[in-house]
Amino acid sequence: MKKLSTLRKVLAVAIGTVAAAAIAVPASAAQPGPTGEMGPAVVGGTRAAQGEFPWMVRLSMGCGGAMYADNLVLTAAHCVSGTGNNTSITATYGAVDLQSSSRVTRTSKYVYRNPGYSTSAGGDWALIQLSSPITNAAKLPIATSTAYDSGTFTIIGWGAASEGGAQQRYLLKATVPFVSDTSCKTPYPSLKAAVEICAGYTQGGTDTCQGDSGGPMVRRDNANNWVQVGIVSYGRGCARPNYPGVYAQVSALSTAIAAKARELRV
Ligand code: ARG
Repeated sequence: MKKLSTLRKVLAVAIGTVAAAAIAVPASAAQPGPTGEMGPAVVGGTRAAQGEFPWMVRLSMGCGGAMYADNLVLTAAHCVSGTGNNTSITATYGAVDLQSSSRVTRTSKYVYRNPGYSTSAGGDWALIQLSSPITNAAKLPIATSTAYDSGTFTIIGWGAASEGGAQQRYLLKATVPFVSDTSCKTPYPSLKAAVEICAGYTQGGTDTCQGDSGGPMVRRDNANNWVQVGIVSYGRGCARPNYPGVYAQVSALSTAIAAKARELRV
């Protein structure tokens, strides 16, 4: 049962405060689509158009991220090992197809991992400083108030299309509704409600999954521009009924993110 134990390990790391022993791994929570195929990545999603989410980044450790400045990618703390010089990460930008010849790549130079993440405070965010900027990169603004912490969110990623499934070549997207902290504490009693926000359908079927971590959860603001409200963090399995996805709540972390970014940006 190598695959199963590997998944357990991934989940144990990802879920953190949820006891690993409590995680059951079913054969699959995803259902075949109307044409019989298994749904594409970001379980229950569809293909994103080239240029639709221009600030979206794939990171070589198998995570997502979003451009915050020409030389900074915002991702999840659990995607990186710690703070310090780090030249091991490749960021891929500018293409929904990770094998596209028009993709843009950069190597990391430095990583800042929110120190609060490993404490009771939580806050699953990190900034990756690139070795050279992507000049005039599309940047994703982060939510600075709770004004957009409700409604319908868009989730995006190259992660697994189903629990235990393969990483994807083409970027996928889906929409999921906000889930209140009160509701989210039923499946996740140790939810850090001050710094986490949940999203998903009661009936499941649509969710982020392994490999989507660190990527943005977004919605439109009042000016119809994308704003980042979440960072893919964890969930029990993927797309299971009554188990929404849990995201770092960007509005609660934005002051700290912006302050660190000011130090690190070009
Ligand atoms: N922690 C996972 C990762 O590293 C993301 C899990 C998201 N799970 C979910 N059910 N929304 O990629």
